[in-house]
Amino acid sequence: MLSGIQPTSGSFHLGNYLGAVRQWVDLQEANDAFYMVVDLHAITVPQDPATLRENTRISAAQLLGAGLDPERCTLFVQSHVPEHAQLGWVMNCLTGFGEASRMTQFKDKSSKQGAEGTTVGLFTYPILQIADILLYQADAVPVGEDQRQHVELTRDLAERFNSRYAPTFTVPKPYILKETAKIQDLQDPAIKMSKSASSPKGLISLLDEPKASAKKFKSAVTDTGTVVSYDEQEKAGVSNLLRIHSALSGQSIEQLVAHFEGKMYGALKTELAELFTEWVEPFQARTREFLDDPAELDRVLGLGADKARAVASETLATVYDRIGFLPPK
Ligand code: TYM
Repeated sequence: MLSGIQPTSGSFHLGNYLGAVRQWVDLQEANDAFYMVVDLHAITVPQDPATLRENTRISAAQLLGAGLDPERCTLFVQSHVPEHAQLGWVMNCLTGFGEASRMTQFKDKSSKQGAEGTTVGLFTYPILQIADILLYQADAVPVGEDQRQHVELTRDLAERFNSRYAPTFTVPKPYILKETAKIQDLQDPAIKMSKSASSPKGLISLLDEPKASAKKFKSAVTDTGTVVSYDEQEKAGVSNLLRIHSALSGQSIEQLVAHFEGKMYGALKTELAELFTEWVEPFQARTREFLDDPAELDRVLGLGADKARAVASETLATVYDRIGFLPPK
């Protein structure tokens, strides 16, 4: 297993947690799992240096607060393992300009940045992600729906390398749970919850005051109906709330629809606000503990980087050999 998360926003949002991080926690039990904070990816858009450093620590602390256990998985910071940038370059040289141009995330992000604000790094962002995944010979990549295309490109590149040189890389599959693949904005259920696109009221930031988040759940946009039922087209807002409830409570959508029979949307929102508060308070307390002990956090990340490098350097050495680089004496 391998996956990554950007440290750009400091606080993760509920989409990050339900779409990805929660699965990371589950999957660390029975798998050899590598999870990282992708600071190299973060600098594809401008970052203030002090804020980036701070947000990288906050991100790692949240991952530990969410339940990652350094005894069970390898947690590290991408820039601590130079092999990512090194394999990234090799992959740049195997990826077609046309296929990179088809990446929808690039199209979205670059249209927001404008031609002058768009860096070449943003364009080659998915190719660095390919290197991230292939270095660890990952079988599966737990992510939200918005990352599917990047994992598909990774598969293409792994197959290309394997057939051009020799079998070298495991061809990875996306690991995407249907129910939580796309958590929607609470104010605009037509778009996904995201730091860049959501309005403050539509975004649940995990480190916000729980009372403020509870309020956002209570004022979530639904529709003019009254019956709590699941219909992604006609009742996108209510369906999103039901999916979030189901993920946090462990009850199926069918059970929830039965539970809310005869009740109004307000009941669903109130219950969801309570459920979220119950989960987020201990999450914040654990995160705070790690943030209060930066030496311990750095120690955990140092150990993670060592474990990651041991694997990554082996893969990179094989790749360098296969492509014909002269080994240093
Ligand atoms: P990032 O940092 O944007 O998001 C981290 C994870 O959260 C998921 N996610 C969502 N899931 C459901 N609903 C949402 N509204 C939602 N918003 C975000 C994302 O799908 C992601 O899994 N490119 C990656 C980081 C990355 C990576 C990797 C991932 C770099 N290298 C290697 C996997 C493997 C990204 O920007 O994620």
